[in-house]
Amino acid sequence: MDILKAQILKNKIPQHIAIIMDGNGRWAKLKNKPRVYGHKNGVNSVREAIESCGELGIKYLTLYAFSTENWNRPKLEVKTLMSLLVSSLKKELKTLQKNNIKLRTIGNLNDLPKSVQKELIEVIEKTKNNTALNLTLALSYGSRDEIVNVIRNISKKVVNNDLAIEEINENIINNHLYTFSLPDVDYLIRTSGEKRISNFLLWQIAYAEMYFTDTLWPDFKKENLFNAILEYQNRERRFGKTSEQIEKINE
Ligand code: FPP
Repeated sequence: MDILKAQILKNKIPQHIAIIMDGNGRWAKLKNKPRVYGHKNGVNSVREAIESCGELGIKYLTLYAFSTENWNRPKLEVKTLMSLLVSSLKKELKTLQKNNIKLRTIGNLNDLPKSVQKELIEVIEKTKNNTALNLTLALSYGSRDEIVNVIRNISKKVVNNDLAIEEINENIINNHLYTFSLPDVDYLIRTSGEKRISNFLLWQIAYAEMYFTDTLWPDFKKENLFNAILEYQNRERRFGKTSEQIEKINE
């Protein structure tokens, strides 16, 4: 694993990684266990992903922990996911502090049970001055829903004459998204073999590189993340420019 890590170039680390953590249910099924067993083990992979980002100096990690659609899952599964969240936050607060990690959330926090909101608010408040890694949990998050909110909030400003229509630009939209203080996503990772975006950060991934792996989330460990980063470093990001233009910029 150290050999793998040593191959990673320090000057080509993605600034912002977003992960769709998929495959917990299938992982459990393969082991003849209930789905929630997969989620419990998925928490260990969350910890490894956070540690890996810390070790590599990645500044922003955003995890799709619960989508607006996930409310339709069986009640027991939703309940277990919520209590896993609370217990993980309680358990990991010290580690977040020790490693200088700042927690925030994106999504409709108000939809979450009060106990979860309370725990989240506490951890967000206690870690707000941390500066090493910005960890964002997407909870009751849906990208279309986020965009609807942006349009509502911008429209209100226009109606109140606080903003002129001509002033609306990409920057203004960025500043109204849940992700307002985060940079664009550089690298989007999805586990479990599914190759879709599932309503995650549609605006923010405009120029992101994508990485899809068959590995199920509970099996996605440090070495899997390091391998994903190595692949990122072999990609050429052109942002609409030609290869020659990019080479000139890098000269
Ligand atoms: C997708 O697997 C996973 C989720 C919907 C939840 C992810 C949650 C965790 C890893 C645990 C809690 C998180 C934190 C941040 C402590 P799936 O259930 O869709 O799997 P399947 O596609 O195989 O059914």
